[in-house]
Amino acid sequence: MGKEAERYVVVTGANKGIGLEIVRQLAKEGITVVLTARDETRGKEALESLKSQELHNVNFHPLDVASQESILALADWLRKTYGGIDILINNAGIASVDKDVTFETVKLVLDTNYFGVKNVTKALLPLLHDDTPGGARVIVVASRLGQLKNLESKDYVKTLSDREHLTEEVVDSFVNHHLKDVVDGSKKEGGWPNWIDWVNSPFGRPVEAYSVSKVAVIAYVSALHNTLVARPGSGKKINVFSCCPGYVATDLNKNRGTKTVEEGADTPVWLALQSPEEGIGKLWAERKVVDF
Ligand SMILES: NC(=O)c1ccc[n+]([C@@H]2O[C@H](COP(=O)([O-])OP(=O)(O)OC[C@H]3O[C@@H](n4cnc5c(N)ncnc54)[C@H](OP(=O)(O)O)[C@@H]3O)[C@@H](O)[C@H]2O)c1
Repeated sequence: MGKEAERYVVVTGANKGIGLEIVRQLAKEGITVVLTARDETRGKEALESLKSQELHNVNFHPLDVASQESILALADWLRKTYGGIDILINNAGIASVDKDVTFETVKLVLDTNYFGVKNVTKALLPLLHDDTPGGARVIVVASRLGQLKNLESKDYVKTLSDREHLTEEVVDSFVNHHLKDVVDGSKKEGGWPNWIDWVNSPFGRPVEAYSVSKVAVIAYVSALHNTLVARPGSGKKINVFSCCPGYVATDLNKNRGTKTVEEGADTPVWLALQSPEEGIGKLWAERKVVDF
């Protein structure tokens, strides 16, 4: 892959937790990393913490993945500053909103963890270089809480496991159906994840929506892969992967996770560096393809 300094990576939600560690590990590889965060102060503090570790090949730009204006501002800045990028790592996510399960709280989780990933990816896809050796990459930090075994609905398990025919529209309608059932108060009938003891869950409330959002991003990665390989002509090579970092001690689960951030960042960083030729469009964990 060309000269190290010529690779550019964007990481979302990177002011702390797994995202910050992903930035640190990639910067140590000599790659130029754009650390993004929704809060400028927190983002710049994270940047300074890396500089104090002698990592100077990191830049900061604000990004709120739930704001289209913010996404477009980042895309514009990347175009003007670097011309393009090689790797996008969608890491930003929320779980616990410490509030009741309402339309607003569920929508916030879905807007951040699903629509946020989708909108950032769409805006940055045109910026991915066509000549990145091994192909440009889009990596989504998902979760094994998004595996289909968590869904009660046999219909959705059937539709979403038909990976080769998955489309973005199918995934959107799955997510919007969940939101509608929350509004209608018919969640139980919908076959949504209900095995989780969400009252005591370290992920807080509403963990059902968190699980649905992660099912959706894993499915979206497969749908995106289908779209990318079906493009006419040779097109540029873009490899997409979803992955689970494991149960990592971060603010997301009130630091109850059993893995360190170094361990959690391992698979996303490995996918970014190796871009394996097998398992494109699939869910990875511990450097292996795992069941959706
Ligand atoms: N920890 C685990 O056990 C675990 C397991 C499976 C998957 N994951 C996934 O790993 C990813 C990273 O989570 P983490 O454990 O490192 O949690 P974390 O420490 O809470 O970090 C989450 C990051 O996402 C950012 N974020 C939230 N909403 C955002 C928005 N609208 N725009 C931009 N950034 C936003 C947060 O920024 P603020 O500081 O501004 O809130 C923070 O930087 C998430 O996608 C999560 O679902 C984690």
